[in-house]
Amino acid sequence: MKIVYYAPEGRPEPWLEELAKHLPQAQLRVWTEADQQAADYAVVWKPPLPLLRLPGLKAAFNLGAGVDGILQHGAQLPPGLPIVRLDDAGMGEQMVEYASWAVLAYFRRFDDYARQQQQAQWRFLKPYPKREFTVGILGMGVLGRQIAAGLRQFGFPVNGWSRSRKDIEGVQCFAGDDELDGFLRASRVLVCILPLTAATTGILNRANLEKLPAGAFVINIARGPHLVEDDLLALVQNGHIAGATLDVAQQEPLPASHPFWREPRITITPHVAAVTLRPISIEQIAGKIRMLERGEPIAGVVDRSLGY
Ligand code: NAP
Ligand code: GLV
Repeated sequence: MKIVYYAPEGRPEPWLEELAKHLPQAQLRVWTEADQQAADYAVVWKPPLPLLRLPGLKAAFNLGAGVDGILQHGAQLPPGLPIVRLDDAGMGEQMVEYASWAVLAYFRRFDDYARQQQQAQWRFLKPYPKREFTVGILGMGVLGRQIAAGLRQFGFPVNGWSRSRKDIEGVQCFAGDDELDGFLRASRVLVCILPLTAATTGILNRANLEKLPAGAFVINIARGPHLVEDDLLALVQNGHIAGATLDVAQQEPLPASHPFWREPRITITPHVAAVTLRPISIEQIAGKIRMLERGEPIAGVVDRSLGY
């Protein structure tokens, strides 16, 4: 069995070593531009199109949950090639940590106290009532559901929005475009954990953000193009949005000249909300390769018509 590996950043050797541990019989190689040799499987992050068109490819395993870096090739992708997403692989726990940190920073006013510290101010701020601090989660998939469960443990009222209707204990579930307005109007904190698709690009735009209650907070841990950055900035500056925590940006790395860096009510992290953990991710991918070799169905195959 031949497996090609590609990622635009980072050293490939530790990934190949991990693959070799789980699939000792496989011939492993790092893909380079000139490589047109046959392969059975590809293990990739943001792969160039020619890699996905290698002869003999039976499946492409994405080294992340979001497959936008593969589906951006659109109709040029080989039609029958299964694209397989990472299925949690330790990301849910990281997302719960990140979302809890960001929500608690707003709710407990740690963000305000950090700004006060810059001015050497020792001043009590009135706490927010928790029952008025509903967290609305855009995307109730593998990661969104775990974030919802994590925030419920702190006692926050939690709402969720997804394409198909869900029934999740303790979470008020909204579904489809018709219910988006009601969901937004109820969200004191909005967490975006949607996949990036044609339907979700730009969903965090001025019209939608204005539907949030005055003083709402925005957390984007999904993809930069979900957010219309100028719209958010204008709403933070006019006070409708009280603050935002952004793990992703339209252009990554966020350019040094970007106004987000200088807006004290916006917190930036460098796309680290949930990173790909090598041992657990490769174990998952290797397990699925073995299942495919045995002719068994696997979970996590992307529906290209939906884009996730
Ligand atoms: P997932 O399991 O595919 O879940 C996606 C959720 O979004 C589902 O609930 C789906 O609804 C909903 N959805 C999709 N399109 C929609 C639409 N048009 N309207 C309403 N709801 C829609 O994905 P996941 O594993 O939770 O990951 C979500 C995204 O997080 C990834 O695609 C990736 O971009 C991002 N991510 C970011 C980081 C980071 O570090 N910043 C790390 C990992 C992942 P249904 O349930 O009805 O299908
Ligand atoms: C990271 O951004 C992922 O999609 O896994």
